[in-house]
Amino acid sequence: MDPHFDYLMDEILQNPKCCRHFLNMGQFLLSEGHFLESLGFLNKARKLGDDSFRLYFLLGKVYLFLSCSEKSLSHFKKALEKKPSHEETKYIINALDGERHVSARSLKTSVVKGLFDDYADKFENHLINKLNYKTPKKLVKFFLAQTEKKMALKIWEKETPLVLDLGCGTGLFARELKQKLNNSQIVGVDLSSQMLKQAIKKDVYFELYQEDLLKFLAQEKKKNNSYNLIAACDTIPYLGDLEEFFEKSCLILKPEGFLLFSFEALKDDRGEWFSFFNGRFKHSLSYVMSLAKKNNLRGEVKLETLREEKGERVKGCFFWGRSIKIKKTDNFF
Ligand SMILES: C[S@@+](CC[C@H](N)C(=O)[O-])C[C@H]1O[C@@H](n2cnc3c(N)ncnc32)[C@H](O)[C@@H]1O
Repeated sequence: MDPHFDYLMDEILQNPKCCRHFLNMGQFLLSEGHFLESLGFLNKARKLGDDSFRLYFLLGKVYLFLSCSEKSLSHFKKALEKKPSHEETKYIINALDGERHVSARSLKTSVVKGLFDDYADKFENHLINKLNYKTPKKLVKFFLAQTEKKMALKIWEKETPLVLDLGCGTGLFARELKQKLNNSQIVGVDLSSQMLKQAIKKDVYFELYQEDLLKFLAQEKKKNNSYNLIAACDTIPYLGDLEEFFEKSCLILKPEGFLLFSFEALKDDRGEWFSFFNGRFKHSLSYVMSLAKKNNLRGEVKLETLREEKGERVKGCFFWGRSIKIKKTDNFF
């Protein structure tokens, strides 16, 4: 076991009535991705009388990772009562409290960074083994099927395809893509330094940047850099409004370049996007398609199972669009 775990356990054994030691252990286990174990120690701290901001904040986070969104929300609310000026807590509550905050344009980047920094070490194990997450593999397969069907990859046989992986996380998408298109040169961008640390180990990236993806897209435009493929695998759920994402991506797509992403599907009658209790956004098909049309992309959408939550399949979509010069009369999709 980790020496820090041993140290914290010794503290508990020496002072079994001290709630602070249980709290410290709960925090450590959370950072290691042992969510259920963390919950046990945090609850014990509470039984021993802890009533602090830190306790409720950590409980909020643990329940968020366990996808118990309502419990998460109620603990973040208690945390805010203790520290009404705490910005991160306020933003998480806004994001989680979907019904009353439909207008939230996206999650604050510091909140996303905090969530993924805490989660990075256990991200792959949790997603792949517990949530049956196959989105990167399926998205690459979908992309290759679409492009092969249209002979669209012919041009890539002659030149190195330049790929931008937005919200690259630990590099699962890039690893899949590199296996199929080994001559591609992939640039990864992510907010979380800890996720990027895992991504480096995959040894599939040409370059990696810690940056907000919208800022990065704008910087690339200024530098006159452009890409054959811009991909965002399971990143769109952290953005609400997609106008800027589409516009900025399309500005740096090469002619005939591709925009590819997965998103969680919202029924069209519920509007354009919606923030749910788990802090992620869903987007309606009609919204995505209207932005594609507005930005001169022609493509397709496919319904897919993205992962499982509490034994239920989470339904989503894959979007594939190709940058084209169009006549006003063209029909899309
Ligand atoms: C669910 S993970 C997906 C990671 C990877 N694409 C995959 O499929 O395994 C979402 C990632 O998007 C990143 N992310 C979310 N919003 C972002 C933003 N605005 N800019 C850069 N990265 C962002 C998070 O830090 C996280 O690593």
